[in-house]
Amino acid sequence: MTFPHSPFQIGSIIIDPPLIMAPLHEITDQPFRRMIREVGGVGLTVSEMISSEALVRHARKAERMMASEGERPYAMQLAGSDPEHLAQCAVMCESAGADMVDLNMGCPASNVTKGGSGSALLRDIRLAERCVKTMVKAVKIPVTVKMRAGWDANQKEREGYRDFLKMFAEAGIQGLAIHPRTRAQQYEGHADWNLIAQAVEAGMPFPIIGNGDVVGAEDAYRMVRETGCQGVMIGRGALYNPFLFRQILEPTLVVTAAMRIDITLRYFRMLLELLEEREALHKIKKIGAWFTKGIPGGAHFRQRLNERNDPQELIREIEALRESTH
Ligand SMILES: Cc1cc2nc3c(=O)[nH]c(=O)nc-3n(C[C@H](O)[C@H](O)[C@H](O)COP(=O)(O)O)c2cc1C
Repeated sequence: MTFPHSPFQIGSIIIDPPLIMAPLHEITDQPFRRMIREVGGVGLTVSEMISSEALVRHARKAERMMASEGERPYAMQLAGSDPEHLAQCAVMCESAGADMVDLNMGCPASNVTKGGSGSALLRDIRLAERCVKTMVKAVKIPVTVKMRAGWDANQKEREGYRDFLKMFAEAGIQGLAIHPRTRAQQYEGHADWNLIAQAVEAGMPFPIIGNGDVVGAEDAYRMVRETGCQGVMIGRGALYNPFLFRQILEPTLVVTAAMRIDITLRYFRMLLELLEEREALHKIKKIGAWFTKGIPGGAHFRQRLNERNDPQELIREIEALRESTH
């Protein structure tokens, strides 16, 4: 079975291949996205969610999250619930060079939902509508949304989901990514791909991007076959296997231990280049270590990685693991 490699468009932006690296808070920063791009197979990358309230205050951390270089097409994602602030921030994203700006209507974390943002917007369709409409009016670049299936099963069953689809079409968004779990589900159970299929069948005037539980190439084929979605967005699957996008496009690609160790080292060098040393060390231990899961000697390596705090020693540890694969 092969992946139907059909590019699609968000506004005038061509997404080719139709595979998207999902936004992951504190993970898909600039070094991670650069690493994923270098591995290949990705048609669109998205920033981590950036708080519009932090951005209007010019908080340094939020401004740094906007950074990108040579990454096209690239979407910036905002999380917020104040329509005017979101519109201001959408303009900031446009000025900073984003190809599109996305509104987060999925984050289940209570520190985000208690302010009415993320998936909490799914509880207030009129506010969600104002947020989207002011953003669409403020910028020339496409505005997209990433949503969950609803706040809880009750809302999903009450047709709330369909009401949102209708509202998005009227508000003028140009792309919709659907992670079909409710907020109440968090990350439990299965993503209900039927809801992605329903959105496709409803004939929305924008492309539908399916998301949720794609961890292998077969899942991506199945998602397209079963739902008809135009794009596939992958989060956690690409964390454990950054080569997943390429494997979807090249089913014969064999990912060796050496390839995985090389990408760990490459990622660490990018972290050191783009972040402060302390942050780079934290991220290689937290994220880079996942790339070595399942490699002979990997568990011992990860233990040693955690004990090191000098970048050169860490590089030597990675090189030693690489040597051991010969
Ligand atoms: C650690 C983590 C951080 C996430 N951060 C974001 C985020 O910043 N914005 C967002 O829209 N979704 C975020 N998500 C949700 C993912 O983008 C995605 O919708 C979800 O993980 C389901 O896709 P998957 O099964 O391919 O991982 C996050 C998920 C995880 C696990």
